[in-house]
Amino acid sequence: MNFEYTEEHLAVRDAAREFAQAELLPGVIERDTEAKFPTEQIKKMGELGFMGMMVDPKYNGGGMDTVSYVLAMEEISKIDASASVSMSVNNSLVCWGLEKYGNEEQKEKYLKPLASGEIIGAFCLSEPEAGSDATSQKTEAVLDGDHYILNGTKNWITNGNTASVYLVIAQTDPAKGHKGISAFIVEKGLDGFIVGKKEDKLGIRGSDTHSLMFTDVKVPVANRIGEEGFGFTFAMETLNGGRIGIAAQALGIASGAYELALAYSKERKAFGKTISQHQAIQFKLADMATSIEAARLLVYKSAILKDQGKDYSYASAMAKLYASQVAMDVTVEAVQVHGGYGYVKEYHVERLMRDAKITQIYEGTSEIQKIVISRAILR
Ligand code: CAA
Ligand code: FAD
Repeated sequence: MNFEYTEEHLAVRDAAREFAQAELLPGVIERDTEAKFPTEQIKKMGELGFMGMMVDPKYNGGGMDTVSYVLAMEEISKIDASASVSMSVNNSLVCWGLEKYGNEEQKEKYLKPLASGEIIGAFCLSEPEAGSDATSQKTEAVLDGDHYILNGTKNWITNGNTASVYLVIAQTDPAKGHKGISAFIVEKGLDGFIVGKKEDKLGIRGSDTHSLMFTDVKVPVANRIGEEGFGFTFAMETLNGGRIGIAAQALGIASGAYELALAYSKERKAFGKTISQHQAIQFKLADMATSIEAARLLVYKSAILKDQGKDYSYASAMAKLYASQVAMDVTVEAVQVHGGYGYVKEYHVERLMRDAKITQIYEGTSEIQKIVISRAILR
């Protein structure tokens, strides 16, 4: 087993760290307060190659491995989890899904501008009554000549308003249950496609979460991904990798909070010494560091399995389940280490605590990860 980073990994990590410090840190509190999407920052992330990191260079991607992607996600999430969820959706749901299962025409037309960050994408599975229970899709796509007529509502869509391209999961043959679900590429601006209001959220407030309404939207047959009936497998396979991205996000949120708590503990004095000299604080730091390291190993393992072409479906579920719990635990403790200062925005840890919670909900709740893991181990 090799625990060494390659030079390329270190270069990617350092580039992401520098970018996050220089471009994401300034204004992160204001963007959170005002629920403002980091438009300029995401544009720069595209220019630096962070929006299509694993895509083949022939489609404008970075051609990097999943470990590099995880390292970049961690660094960006330490500072701004609203930016990193956009990055995660674009890289591991939209670009990955198109590169793996799209045809050449779709890759030329959609993957290239998505991988370069010229445009961004969204992944649309959840509905008002189909979240965890994702097979209960109500959105319908009915074949009509060389188009499908799309009707329905998608909920909670990240990059909902800023995206130009949406991967939409819909029923094409309800009688077949999940085997009658298909996947489509839907462009923004089509008649009948309405973006709902932005959600006002607890955390990742800068990210752009919207419901989407489709009323008789004409989607060309050429925009179906794979065969009819392939959509649910497409969504599940895509989410297997997406969960590595969210696990890395959780790891970054935890690491960011830990680094702030560590630095603060060495500065803040109480009872004639720094609080880091009190054993109660030392033990908190020890617990934080240990759980972060354990989460990191699970996240890297799932990334390495993916890079090796092995089954990573339940490894990514384990990584997300565990890292998201660590993100919650560590951010709560980081606020505690900061005392009253941790409860105000200026010290960043309260935002990280609010941001941490979503990692236990999206791309499959923690309960759903346990279903995925237990089914795999009982198989
Ligand atoms: N990988 C590959 N295939 C999978 C799979 C996985 N992880 N999980 C299920 N499948 C396949 C099954 O093999 C089965 O296929 P076959 O019938 O061909 O064998 C099919 O999917 C249906 O599976 P189940 O019979 O197990 O269906 P179920 O209804 O009992 O449970 C579920 C399925 C695992 C709970 C699934 O519905 C699920 O993952 N739900 C969570 C949905 C989710 O993660 N949504 C995230 C939305 S995107 C998002 O959130 C983005 C963001 O925030 C940034
Ligand atoms: P429900 O499925 O109603 O779950 C409610 C509770 O019941 C949860 O605790 C859940 O774990 C539990 N539960 C449900 N079923 C079971 C079971 N069988 N066993 C045990 N417990 C169970 N979706 C997208 O498609 N694309 C996106 O880009 C996207 N971005 C999102 C961004 C944000 C900020 C949020 C909040 C959500 C986003 N989602 C997105 C949706 C997200 O994936 C769903 O919210 C999530 O899958 C849970 O679905 P739900 O909200 O309907 O909860």
